[in-house]
Amino acid sequence: MTANARSVSAPKPRPKDVREAHFLRMPRFAARLYDWFLSMKPTETQTREVARDLAARIGQGRLLDIGTGPGRLLAELHRLNPRLELFGLDISPAMIAVAKRNLKGIPVDLRQGRAEQTDFAADFFDLVTCTGSLYLWDYPEQGLEEISRILKPGCSAYLFEVYKDVDREAFRTALRNNLRELDMFRRLVGPFALRKALGIAARTEEYVAMVKNTSFAENFMVDKVELGSIPMWLRITVTKCG
Ligand SMILES: C[S@@+](CC[C@H](N)C(=O)[O-])C[C@H]1O[C@@H](n2cnc3c(N)ncnc32)[C@H](O)[C@@H]1O
Repeated sequence: MTANARSVSAPKPRPKDVREAHFLRMPRFAARLYDWFLSMKPTETQTREVARDLAARIGQGRLLDIGTGPGRLLAELHRLNPRLELFGLDISPAMIAVAKRNLKGIPVDLRQGRAEQTDFAADFFDLVTCTGSLYLWDYPEQGLEEISRILKPGCSAYLFEVYKDVDREAFRTALRNNLRELDMFRRLVGPFALRKALGIAARTEEYVAMVKNTSFAENFMVDKVELGSIPMWLRITVTKCG
């Protein structure tokens, strides 16, 4: 079946505050608050680990981070390998503004736009990534189809996503250990944000069903990974046929 023949599924019903319209209207202070939240040690460690994982996969070429938020992953990738040509995309103008501030002085092409319909040329990227964003897209399958369009043949995208069927006991223990060194406010906000993410996230088999309904159906892999020693992440690797 070709990509065009696939039916695009209806948007997933979800709380109003995680729909595209919400991210489009996000005020600048909320984007700044999120950026501040990312500056705590456990999330900084997660960003560094994702960057190391990706940097080991690509020596040079074009890399796109979809749903880049405040752009911290791109900054870390530049630090690890300044030869990479970096691109960032996010639906939220407020997040793009914060990313521009965080990435000042670093050559990065930052664009506001939807994962589901970008203005990049076909067969353009050597690697596409996305961290904690796919689970928020209104039309995830359409977004995956767009990734397939803009990836070069033979190249892969790596999507790091939280999943609902996480081992709750292991998650709670890891969270407790991670929160110990944080200030009181972060100790309160951190677990709330993570639990909310798990509540909205798909189950592993739902992510698998999503990918199976796209051009990547025959070329994907799903691994459970620990980031910042919190076991709540799936790494979904999808590869475009060469
Ligand atoms: C939880 S944040 C993750 C940000 C960053 N990747 C990180 O790891 O910190 C999710 C980001 O996805 C963006 N987003 C949500 N839906 C999107 C879509 N359809 N297309 C592009 N970006 C989207 C949001 O604006 C937000 O910046």
